[in-house]
Amino acid sequence: CLMESSVPLQSYKEAAEWILAHTDQRPRIAVICGSGLGTLAETLENKTVIPYEDIPHFPSSTVPGHAGRLVFGLLNGKQCVCMQGRFHIYEGYSMSTVAFPVRVFSLLGVDTLIVTNAAGGINSNYSVGDIMFIKDHINMPGFCGQNPLRGPNEDGFGVRFPCMSDAYDQHLRHLAMDCTQELGLQDIVQEGIYCMLGGPSYETIAECNMLKLLGVDAVGMSTVPEVITGRHCRMHILGISLITNMAILSYNSTAHANHQEVLQTSQLRAAALIALLTNLVGKM
Ligand code: HPA
Repeated sequence: CLMESSVPLQSYKEAAEWILAHTDQRPRIAVICGSGLGTLAETLENKTVIPYEDIPHFPSSTVPGHAGRLVFGLLNGKQCVCMQGRFHIYEGYSMSTVAFPVRVFSLLGVDTLIVTNAAGGINSNYSVGDIMFIKDHINMPGFCGQNPLRGPNEDGFGVRFPCMSDAYDQHLRHLAMDCTQELGLQDIVQEGIYCMLGGPSYETIAECNMLKLLGVDAVGMSTVPEVITGRHCRMHILGISLITNMAILSYNSTAHANHQEVLQTSQLRAAALIALLTNLVGKM
């Protein structure tokens, strides 16, 4: 066969069946926790914790700041499953492997996906610590063929050519906006365009300026594979970027992008993000 291999349908089914046999919980909401935001999962009640390595066919996470387990439990009274630790293409995984858990969630009955990430601020009106609701994305790796849906279409999940113009659910975004008002977070909230790059190197100054010209508000190395895969199987999606650092746009700058700053800002805003998601899930 001359075709690159994608993930076999049987792998998703076996993973889902294994999970269904190991917890009685049947969440409709899944949360993917980005860099340093995994503490959300700790706040769930009646937890069932499943390490990724126990689940057949599940990939494993290799990044500091990302644990590797599914946490099922109640968030504000609602059943949820949290991914504590996600996968990235820079770890060497294909886009379809990165998005593997999303299809497994779909088989578990999940219909709403909340995706969080750490991102670099490109928009000069943004500040470190801002919370950006994702209005739309640019799949930069997609411009050269990287898409989680590449390969034979799995008709059981969705159509061959799925629409992406409504990828981020407007209703969920407005609900999340309401929550930020209630919590007094409105001064640190933004709404914008997220661009995914492959990483793991951070962007050059020229690349940051290019992204700015393209209308990008925040840049990161994740989220897009999961969102495309989730939309393919008609999940409702809310995307949240935490602006952990500002992209460097000037040759006069002495700043340097680094993972420590990303983790520090995540810790600074962890409580606010947990409050936001807790409040939001209660309204869903
Ligand atoms: N660039 C890419 N990915 C990121 C950044 C960044 O500046 N910050 C957090 N993730």
